Amino acid sequence: MVLYLDNAATSYPKPEPVYRAADNYLRNIGASSGRGAYRRALDADNLVYQARKLLGRLFCIKDVSRIVFTLNITESLNLALKGLLKEGDHVITSQMEHNAMWRPLKILERKIEIRITVISCPEGGHLDPGELEQAISPGTTLVAINHVSNVTGALMPVEEVGKICRRHDIPLLIDAAQTAGVYPIDVENSNIDLLAFTGHKGLLGPTGTGGLYIAPGIMLNPLKEGGTGGESVPEQMPLHLPERFEAGTLNVAGITGLGAAVEFILEKGVEQIRAHEHRLTEFALERLKEVPGLTLYGPQTAGERVAVFSFNLHDIAPEEVAYVLDEVYEIMVRSGLHCAPQAHRCIGTVEYGTVRVSPGFFSTEEDIETLVKALYEIVSR
Ligand SMILES: Cc1ncc(COP(=O)(O)O)c(C=O)c1O
Repeated sequence: MVLYLDNAATSYPKPEPVYRAADNYLRNIGASSGRGAYRRALDADNLVYQARKLLGRLFCIKDVSRIVFTLNITESLNLALKGLLKEGDHVITSQMEHNAMWRPLKILERKIEIRITVISCPEGGHLDPGELEQAISPGTTLVAINHVSNVTGALMPVEEVGKICRRHDIPLLIDAAQTAGVYPIDVENSNIDLLAFTGHKGLLGPTGTGGLYIAPGIMLNPLKEGGTGGESVPEQMPLHLPERFEAGTLNVAGITGLGAAVEFILEKGVEQIRAHEHRLTEFALERLKEVPGLTLYGPQTAGERVAVFSFNLHDIAPEEVAYVLDEVYEIMVRSGLHCAPQAHRCIGTVEYGTVRVSPGFFSTEEDIETLVKALYEIVSR
């Protein structure tokens, strides 16, 4: 039986209602949203609105017009960073960022001379909020960090960072790629001003979906200009949300699937999903550590992380481990740098990377046992 353990890249399988919802839209509705007044077009509008509302419930967002749909979190982070930052601004970020955060920051550093302070994350764990607070200066205009590292699974202290940002009146941007749908997120309680998420990982929706929540008072420039369905005469993008940031035809099929996925998550309960993941993480940590010659990176306890495990086996190249797992055992995992070179520098694996195993909502302890058994066999060969 094939085993998919690459949910940090994208989740698979999806809940049954996700397939049905996307199929139903494509087959029986088909119209664009925000573009017509006939009944099918209104049905499409409603599907998009329902998805926005469900995401609002999941992230405790009252005004759901402030949730903007994008194609993925890469687009969301580009919109947040390029839409907000101005020449000479100072940004504080972490050492564990994905290139979706890191590369736009580095481009802005070159183009408009923003200043970047990188907070260290010893041994691939979380940053120290005290160190972050000390890095704040009068010119600091943004704190931009991930919620969880996609390399080590380390959870960042978002609540504490949020309180610091509020005290200093600095906006907080969170990359929730690895937590949305698997970890409770409350934007108001956590003082999150910009929440970027992707629809196809823990949110269990289709690829090509993502979004950005923009808190009241945060003014962004659009990343792209184009048709918004209404108000076509002005040559500038409308000021109101979400249209200001949603130029072009939306991915209604994907968003409909995402809506069904979020409904599924809300029915299961995100606390329950986290509890399941926590148990699985405890189990995996225990079993992986027993494999001879396995070095597991990042936090060593379930409370400090999510179920994303990076490791190396003796001195076997990570891509070889991943290849053998796939070819011989039909177990799908990822190897390499996982688009986060800074994080690999931090844990000393920038040359070859790591093997990354990421169980998902449908994974079980038996799946972990199957993986561990295969790893034992690989080591003993
Ligand atoms: C922490 C983090 N940020 C950003 C991304 C980029 O996600 P997407 O490809 O959906 O834009 C990923 C995906 O691996 C991620 O793990």
